[in-house]
Amino acid sequence: MSPLVLGIESSCDETGVGIVRGQELLANEVASSVAEHVRFGGVVPEVASRAHLQALGPTLRRALDAAGVQLRDLDAIAVTAGPGLMGALVVGISAAKALSAALRKPLYGVNHLVGHVGVDMLENGPLPKPCGALLVSGGHTSLLRVDDVTGSITELGSTIDDAAGEAYDKVARVLGLAYPGGPVIDRAAAAGDPKAIAFPRGLTAQKDLVKHRFDFSFSGLKTAVARYVETERLAGRPISIADVAASFQEAVADVLSGKAVAACEQESLTTLVLGGGVAANSRLRALLAERCAAGGITLRRPSPGLCTDNGVMVAVLGAELVCAGKAPSSLDISAYSGLPVTKVQV
Ligand code: KG4
Ligand code: ZN
Repeated sequence: MSPLVLGIESSCDETGVGIVRGQELLANEVASSVAEHVRFGGVVPEVASRAHLQALGPTLRRALDAAGVQLRDLDAIAVTAGPGLMGALVVGISAAKALSAALRKPLYGVNHLVGHVGVDMLENGPLPKPCGALLVSGGHTSLLRVDDVTGSITELGSTIDDAAGEAYDKVARVLGLAYPGGPVIDRAAAAGDPKAIAFPRGLTAQKDLVKHRFDFSFSGLKTAVARYVETERLAGRPISIADVAASFQEAVADVLSGKAVAACEQESLTTLVLGGGVAANSRLRALLAERCAAGGITLRRPSPGLCTDNGVMVAVLGAELVCAGKAPSSLDISAYSGLPVTKVQV
């Protein structure tokens, strides 16, 4: 019988509690504090921590009810140990430790980023070994070679400045759009022309490819958008938000998909998994599908609803660790705000 695992996620502004039986999703409950951060244009750590504290109990209750299971039925408790906001992580970890100690169930402290990759198993089954992964979230952007999601991950490249999601959020701010910027720009871009403005593609020039073949840079793109908007405003010309959004989005999707396919080709990987909040982006999903098909690569994309932070991605990674016979984490694990993507479990 596959293990029944509870997963707790509290690394940023979503309090997520998920329950799986092996790779089967039984419950996925998320409470978001995003509305409390909107007026600040970004997540306020102290506000997020407090919101986790308030939301965790009720979210756990809802998840147990939705799955139709009792706490005593669980085989293990998994929790995000990092990376993320320190105070926010501590709330989830403390709750997981309390449950683990009170119920005498093993505790698995797992990597949030690897959870974004592993969540795909809920819809598409076991990950082929090896596979490639493009991880694009609000805080991270990496290209990975995943030989084993429970322990063997190599980072082929990552962003040298802003994360992809961060670029979306910052550009939305420049355009006077709401936070978080990703979904808002995605919607605005639908009515725009992606070729209207030629924004730069970071680290794609021949000279950059030598040292940064699979690395990303989005800060130049963000600056280019800001400069464009400022120039147009000073000249008194009307700005088409839809065209700026579509052209910016095209630049992001072009670089991410181009480098991901090139990495798969170099590493002879025939499957690519997309993960993280920006994996919900419609243009990235479409362009990647097109380029993977042309390159003979099978693309695995979790449903948009599973791409953003949730507890079930933590639960399914925990279940994989149990199935792989990995030893549980110690009850005195810490929160690791800078946990590297190559460390699956703490
Ligand atoms: O993975 P995630 O939920 O949280 C982190 O671990 O960071 O990612 C959040 C990020 C935010 O920057 C948000 O703007 C972005 O994902 N995002 C999107 C979309 N939905 C969320 N970016 C582009 N298009 C979207 N549809
Ligand atoms: Zn995330």
